[in-house]
Amino acid sequence: MTRESASPAAQPAPVRAAIVQLLSNMRDGKEIREYLTRFSALDQERFAVIKVGGAIIEEDLEALAGALAFLQSVGLAPIVVHGGGPQLNTALEAAGFPEQRVDGLRITPPDAMGAVRDTLTAVNLKLVQAVRDCGGRAAAIPSGVFEAELIDEVKLGRVGEPSGVRLDLVAAAARAGQAPILGCLGDTADGRLVNVNADSAVRALVHALQPYKIVFLTGTGALLDAQGAPISAINLATDHDDLMAADWVTGGMRLKLQEIKRLLDDLPLSSSVSITRPSELAKELFTHAGAGTLVRRGERMLE
Ligand code: ARG
Repeated sequence: MTRESASPAAQPAPVRAAIVQLLSNMRDGKEIREYLTRFSALDQERFAVIKVGGAIIEEDLEALAGALAFLQSVGLAPIVVHGGGPQLNTALEAAGFPEQRVDGLRITPPDAMGAVRDTLTAVNLKLVQAVRDCGGRAAAIPSGVFEAELIDEVKLGRVGEPSGVRLDLVAAAARAGQAPILGCLGDTADGRLVNVNADSAVRALVHALQPYKIVFLTGTGALLDAQGAPISAINLATDHDDLMAADWVTGGMRLKLQEIKRLLDDLPLSSSVSITRPSELAKELFTHAGAGTLVRRGERMLE
């Protein structure tokens, strides 16, 4: 039997897990077919931007690679952007640069930039290799996409804010049938490498591509309510102000919601954000009920 066979038994174990997980959640094939038709009709560069934190690559690599290879096996080509927070913490600490942040941004002394580059490149390759091990095709693009401007060299060191994205590497990978896996190394107009925050990188990419779906893959797999239970869906038009006024929406949750609102405000109403975990990505994308949190910009009902 060949790798190309659609039979689950012929797929590598992580891809098989994604298929079995999806099948076990379906009442009939109709929903899945509907979503597949909808996603396939899009220009594939505009199907989805998937953001993966560095912690997921450490802790849930197999499920992640399996989910990405599975999407590829059904002809979908998401663009993946990954961070590398925990990996940078370890590597920079070892190189004598303990973690220091200002306004959530990692201070990156110029001397640390070599270690940042090597670490993020290694994280990038690790994910690419894992996708390939699952029979998927993936292109390693650790840098070369995000044009950036130094934010405040004195205060933050080599930390950049994206000022543009170059899509040629992404398009070349897509044309070759490879899933583009992007790292967040930016470069300045004068060719200096800078550290770019992964959320800012996603924002720049989303602005340029106007994707139909944005997916955040996290360990928690959803936004959580006051009781710690997953919230299935949020309609920003009706829910945003209440959520922002709620005393339990603090810290990380507040920032995440603000970030999601900022992303969706820049996109057509048909676009949406999903927060889920790698093992549930297929269910989130291909079923109505999903698995995780779906956020839409939504419209207010006329009163
Ligand atoms: N499959 C659809 C999508 O990805 C709907 C997902 C619904 N998800 C949810 N958590 N309520 O757009």
